Amino acid sequence: MPAVAYTNGRYGPIADAAVSIDDRGFQFADSVYEVAAFLNGRFVDWGKHLWRLNRSLAALHIRGVPSDAALSAIANRLVAQSRATDGLLYIQISRGVARRDHPFPANIRPTVVMTARHFDFTQRIGQQKAGIAVISLPDQRWARCDIKTTGLLPAVLAKQEARQAHAFEAMFHLPDGTVTEGGSTNMYMVDKAGTIITHPISARILPGIARDTLLGIARANQIRVEERAFSIEEARAAPELFLTSTTAPLLPIVRLDDAAVGTGKPGPVATGLAEHLWDEVQRQTGWSARPATVSAF
Ligand code: PDD
Repeated sequence: MPAVAYTNGRYGPIADAAVSIDDRGFQFADSVYEVAAFLNGRFVDWGKHLWRLNRSLAALHIRGVPSDAALSAIANRLVAQSRATDGLLYIQISRGVARRDHPFPANIRPTVVMTARHFDFTQRIGQQKAGIAVISLPDQRWARCDIKTTGLLPAVLAKQEARQAHAFEAMFHLPDGTVTEGGSTNMYMVDKAGTIITHPISARILPGIARDTLLGIARANQIRVEERAFSIEEARAAPELFLTSTTAPLLPIVRLDDAAVGTGKPGPVATGLAEHLWDEVQRQTGWSARPATVSAF
């Protein structure tokens, strides 16, 4: 299946796509991005991704970006060209190309790049059954983690450390022990009463799209949600931990550093919510994670 790219008006194979070395995304990470899932050829939560993209662009004062309708048309055309039914769309918008100088250049046009690639979401079903491991690490990022910029070095280093420890993800905590989020995921604990607890929306975390959808589903199903800070000590004592992201979408955490979480197996709250999330994906796209029912006749 071809992985395809859009670069400032051109469509073609990813291998042929290029931007200038003077692009400010390359020089300064002066750029924002989004990752959206498509299943069955249809986007999940597309409107929310556009909302967050516009929010990130506004925070960086990047202007002159194609309209939501134009971006949606490019995205849909790219997905069709990729011939993938299930995959990930990556959008990156930088301030543009200019001679290297820190302040914003005058009369600059943003660079708009998108790629569409196949992604196998069924691998997540096995991970949901088995659960995943995470390691705790200090949060060494900047003070505006709510903006989805391509300045991802702390996440890159943390996720590499996690990989070397045979863990799926790093759980970030502040010097006072507050758990913020994961390297590229939002983090949750479930307390003994079955309440879901997750860091409130603030400059310390990315307002995750899967987070927003998940909390909506939880509330609709009368599961109690508390958006409050929790500490790494609380996390170690919690009966259940899990994470969410566009690519995950919900994975139960069964190991934190050297210790089992709860029983060491995915717990009932995370497992039930994962099912609800798949139902929501099916509602939006028609995609089903469950094996097709085989007729007896
Ligand atoms: N990461 N927190 C951080 C720091 C993230 O980078 C991400 C997403 C999330 C989850 O957000 P969402 O539910 O909107 O995917 C939370 C993307 C997938 C990435 O960088 O690949």
